[in-house]
Amino acid sequence: ARILVLHGPNLNLLGVREPSVYGHETLSDINVSLQARAQAAGHELSWFQSNAEHELIARIHQARDEGVAWILINPAAFTHTSIAIRDALAGVSIPFIEIHLSNPHAREAFRHHSYLSDLATGVICGFGGDSYRLALEATLLRLAVPAA
Ligand code: DQA
Repeated sequence: ARILVLHGPNLNLLGVREPSVYGHETLSDINVSLQARAQAAGHELSWFQSNAEHELIARIHQARDEGVAWILINPAAFTHTSIAIRDALAGVSIPFIEIHLSNPHAREAFRHHSYLSDLATGVICGFGGDSYRLALEATLLRLAVPAA
């Protein structure tokens, strides 16, 4: 199956950006490890990072045309602001997992609300780069078992 990993704004700076909060791993380290794991399990994983809301929305729309089965998304700051990304995910009806490197609930109050969580199949946060790897494991388990 096809799996799409989406990374929102400022995640291109991973490894450099506030390493005490987000860790030392770079975005490409994470993408490479996810791609290897998905391929080993017989799936195809692609990824996309953008700092622009409209580009993430366009990529979500494109995912429907490509027959993407699962989306893993770290919407970054758009988590807390973007009704448009919420509507795009609802519009394509592709199941998705919301991911955060940090635990937003342990941070500033403005990070406690997500526009996406209630639509997500699940949310994984607080494990650094491992949040992505845990989300991929959950996806692989779902792909292995036909939906009830
Ligand atoms: C983040 C958490 C968000 O609150 C923040 O705006 C980010 C990254 C995370 O992965 O921990 O940019 O999504």
